[in-house]
Amino acid sequence: MTQDGFWLFAYGSLMARPALPWTQRVEATLPGYQRRFWQGSHDHRGVPGAPGRVLTLVPTEDVENEGEERGEGACEGLLYYLPPAVAKGALARLDYREKNGYLRCTREVRDRFGIRRRALVYLATPHNPAWLGPAPRAELVAQLCTAQGPSGRNIDYLRALHRTLRQLRITDPHIEALMAAAGRHLNPAGALTTARPPKEEP
Ligand code: BEZ
Repeated sequence: MTQDGFWLFAYGSLMARPALPWTQRVEATLPGYQRRFWQGSHDHRGVPGAPGRVLTLVPTEDVENEGEERGEGACEGLLYYLPPAVAKGALARLDYREKNGYLRCTREVRDRFGIRRRALVYLATPHNPAWLGPAPRAELVAQLCTAQGPSGRNIDYLRALHRTLRQLRITDPHIEALMAAAGRHLNPAGALTTARPPKEEP
């Protein structure tokens, strides 16, 4: 069976390290969704019993229902094109990599030239066992600052994401706020300066 080429929308670690044989890359926006650390990770950035938090995209109305700012009401990220010759292998790799609760979905994304593209996007939703959902900011920060798993410290995931967004000149108010709050517990090398950040705002 032949496999068509496809566009992939990246909003997290795939932006910096897609490790895929893409042939085109362009900045793009997915309307109606926001980045949130609402997916649990007990296999990469945490362990069972002390899970970390990793990104998913959440519909903007769900963010508002949690009393959070809607920001731009859209998620800025990157579109990668995977041509037919590599599409089957790329899909298999992506499906394996995102097997812990992410669904392969299709959404309409607008690239920076205003062209609308149907793109694949991996989303974790509340209907998966690793889902953690929303939490007060101080609790998110405490978890991000302390969790670690086989792929490393959770805080390094947040720092790498923040760095990538800066490099791409993407401002995400939610990620900025988390990084600023986490930064109060970190030294310049990224090591924790407090044994355990409080789960409540001081
Ligand atoms: C991404 O970078 O697009 C991505 C982030 C988390 C899970 C799946 C994909």
